[in-house]
Amino acid sequence: KVYRASTTAPVNIAVVKYWGKRDAKLNLPTNSSLSVTLSQADLRTLTTASCSAAFQDDVLLLNGEPSDLTGARTQACLRELRTRRAALESKDASLPKLSAMRLLLVSENNFPTAAGLASSAAGFAALVRAIADLYELPSSPTELSLIARQGSGSACRSLFGGYVAWQMGSQADGLDSQAVEVAPAAHWPEMRALILVASAAKKGVSSTSGMQQTVATSGLFQQRITDVVPANMKRMEDAVAARDFAAFAEVTMRDSNSFHATCADTYPPIFYMNDVSRAAVRAVEVINAAAGKTVAAYTFDAGPNAVVYYLEENKDLVLGAFYPLLEKLDGWKDGAKGLKSSVQFDETVASTITSGVSRVIMTGVGEGPQKTDVY
Ligand code: DP6
Repeated sequence: KVYRASTTAPVNIAVVKYWGKRDAKLNLPTNSSLSVTLSQADLRTLTTASCSAAFQDDVLLLNGEPSDLTGARTQACLRELRTRRAALESKDASLPKLSAMRLLLVSENNFPTAAGLASSAAGFAALVRAIADLYELPSSPTELSLIARQGSGSACRSLFGGYVAWQMGSQADGLDSQAVEVAPAAHWPEMRALILVASAAKKGVSSTSGMQQTVATSGLFQQRITDVVPANMKRMEDAVAARDFAAFAEVTMRDSNSFHATCADTYPPIFYMNDVSRAAVRAVEVINAAAGKTVAAYTFDAGPNAVVYYLEENKDLVLGAFYPLLEKLDGWKDGAKGLKSSVQFDETVASTITSGVSRVIMTGVGEGPQKTDVY
């Protein structure tokens, strides 16, 4: 007999960034963070977990290719899930002994891996959720976030839809370092994200190693974790509660700038943003100036891709400014086609974006993991 469960999990993009570990083994962060979960119609991982007494080894297939499961982080997730299943089995002898069987994990992304988007968050969230469903664990998303966190920090936030905080916690065992829902997607469903893919290449310095170098060498980082982030978390929670886009946008842009400043202050310095990223920053500033109010916010992770948040009501202003520059690219949807705004970018900004962006992804805030029967 083969036991099986499938789930999807979304990508999330932080508006207050996680950057720094206080415990690399348990993946405990030096600061809390907050993200927006993006729609799974555009970006998601679908994972099917199965187990059988006939399976010989744990196996992971990622987009059709055999993939390594032996890494310490993946093993930590599998161990935790098996331990929980074994506890259920020891209480109820009628349960099949799934905890002793090998696992087959089949995982697929619905977006091109070449888009250079961090997929580890959706990947670990889907892996943990699929196995938890297979094992019929009575665990809440917050409980599962404690396990997914050990796979990849940002993955803990992908167990929820909408607006999600990862509370850093203070315990040495990490049992209070978990994700919680700040607000569901339905609280502020008008939030949209335009992703400008600036590089398909794999990032130079991985976030895992980059953040460790920052913690070890940056002086600015100290101020970020003691003052900047705690204030940004509070402001961001208030902005989301009040659906105040101007406040949301300012904190998003300031926090991204602060994070990249600590990267530049790392010794030797780390640069994730490139000329195309900086042109996107200028473009957002020009759009906001032309609108006479804040209608767009940029943010950048550990790579050059720009994520531009905006509200549906301002799509003409925001999409209309980018569409004429990038209309030949894949990824535009009907609402953007043909849009033009009166915003004028200077020649350098316009040509840098036109030549440096390779595809766009039009998406928005979305729901958390979904159980599915589609294998
Ligand atoms: C810049 O979650 O990829 O995207 O815990 O080492 O796997 P590990 O790091 P990861 O770091 C993400 C960093 C970030 C900011 C964020 O998502 O909060």
